Amino acid sequence: IRVFIPRDAGAIAVGADEVVVALEKAAKRRGLSIEIVRNGSRGLYWLEPMVEIATGRGRIAYGPVDAGDIDELLDAGMLDGGAHRLCLGITDDIPWLKRQTRLTFARCGVIDPVSLDDYRAHGGYRGLERALTIGPEASVEEVFQSGLRGRGGAGFPTGIKWRTVAQTIAPQKYIVCNADEGDSGTFADRMIMEGDPFVLIEGMTIAGIAVGATKGYIYCRSEYPLAIAVMNDAIRAARSNGMLGASVCGSDYMFDLEVRSGAGAYVCGEETSLLESLEGKRALVRAKPPLPAHQGLFGKPTVINNVLSLATVPIVLDKGPEFYKDFGMGRSRGTMPIQLAGNIKHGGLFEVAFGITLGELVEEIGGGTASGRPVRAVQVGGPLGAYFPPSLFDTPFDYEAFAARDGLIGHGGIVVFDDQVDMARQARFAMEFCAIESCGKCTPCRLGSTRGVETIDRIIKNEKRAENLVVLEDLCNTMKFGSLCALGGFTPYPVMSALTHFPEDFGAAPTRPEAAE
Ligand code: NAI
Ligand code: SF4
Repeated sequence: IRVFIPRDAGAIAVGADEVVVALEKAAKRRGLSIEIVRNGSRGLYWLEPMVEIATGRGRIAYGPVDAGDIDELLDAGMLDGGAHRLCLGITDDIPWLKRQTRLTFARCGVIDPVSLDDYRAHGGYRGLERALTIGPEASVEEVFQSGLRGRGGAGFPTGIKWRTVAQTIAPQKYIVCNADEGDSGTFADRMIMEGDPFVLIEGMTIAGIAVGATKGYIYCRSEYPLAIAVMNDAIRAARSNGMLGASVCGSDYMFDLEVRSGAGAYVCGEETSLLESLEGKRALVRAKPPLPAHQGLFGKPTVINNVLSLATVPIVLDKGPEFYKDFGMGRSRGTMPIQLAGNIKHGGLFEVAFGITLGELVEEIGGGTASGRPVRAVQVGGPLGAYFPPSLFDTPFDYEAFAARDGLIGHGGIVVFDDQVDMARQARFAMEFCAIESCGKCTPCRLGSTRGVETIDRIIKNEKRAENLVVLEDLCNTMKFGSLCALGGFTPYPVMSALTHFPEDFGAAPTRPEAAE
């Protein structure tokens, strides 16, 4: 009997390893023969640790399972999919999963992450095979035609980026995967690396062949030790099976990969500072131009893409650009793995075609707040994203629709706050975050963020409030238009959106004891 128990950092944090130990002990005691597969997470984090049993009816899920529940579950016939208060039924029929369109995450939580056979059995490496058949130029063209845009946040067309690198003549080119995932409330990159690492390897290999790069680096944040370990295991397996190395998949193409660990700075997610860090230097942001596509890692043409962009490439090549392009709205094509976090009842990974509204995501899919209180604000797109009030919940998840409302979808993280949030403090936090994480290269960000904290403090204390609000707006404009990179340039989004949509918190702040501390 195959039993699936996630080896995903989110599941482990709530006791998945203890559940494994308890089940192994109980099975031994009872003389039961079981095979435990440590899969990735299905992304229903409020139900983790989620245990699944492979039965004739399909996989049956139980969750959230505590190590102390195991004996009771076995008594109830869990190994045959027996009824129990923790039984969630057939996994694929769970409405939260059924509503999704899982393209990038099709295998995550389904397969054994480090089994190449399992990966292939679920459609793995079909994209690479097709790329090898149609050749580099056509592969770049298909990625362009699919409408895939950079999932790291900026939404730049992946095909154009690849084309730029492909057309730049150089003896050496690189593929760099940005796995620094620093945005608050985001975990999709981690889930892919822990739950379906071969899809990232396959995507990077396709990218290498398409643009003429022979070497790739995955720059992963050091806070993800499990993702690093799983990626390294998968890379070793791919190498020993001829899927990486001197002759990829028996072809004339060469491509190999390495994982590098970051050292824990948010700014390392900015592509040029990531390159500096990868080169072994202090992570100071570089001025652009030159674009990394022209002069990137070690001065060579480099494709830098986020984990999700690269992990989406195999399905684009496998099913063709028209298939992928068919999902979505406007210029936002395909699906987006959205991450629901913060004060939310059903937090997790929800992959869906662009166009779903923010309200549907927060209220219907997320089920509102975990505290049961009304939702007051959501921050979309990480610490540099805007705060939206429920009056903007009709905004469709789409790059342009969010931009039109002075927001951004970023890496697809949604962090929910209930009516107890103090938005003046959140605005202050944005400036403080920027001051702490600033690389220090340019003045608007380095000094502006510290002055921003001081100015918001004065507003909170009601010191020359009207004048300081003008100063804050002016400062935000200077940071927005004068900063060298998105860290200083985007910090005004959370600050100004808090001011615009929640002005009462800036006026009423002194009456709130926690705001005046
Ligand atoms: P950007 O708009 O400057 O560039 C986007 C990408 O397109 C870059 O890779 C750039 O090199 C490339 N590019 C631009 N023009 C090109 C051309 N003509 N040919 C080839 N490539 C070209 O945006 P940036 O500064 O790279 O990213 C900002 C975004 O990062 C923000 O929207 C924010 O949401 C996101 N972000 C994501 C984080 C995460 O944890 N994933 C953390 C912080 C910010
Ligand atoms: Fe560095 Fe901030 Fe300037 Fe970016 S905006 S280059 S993080 S000082």
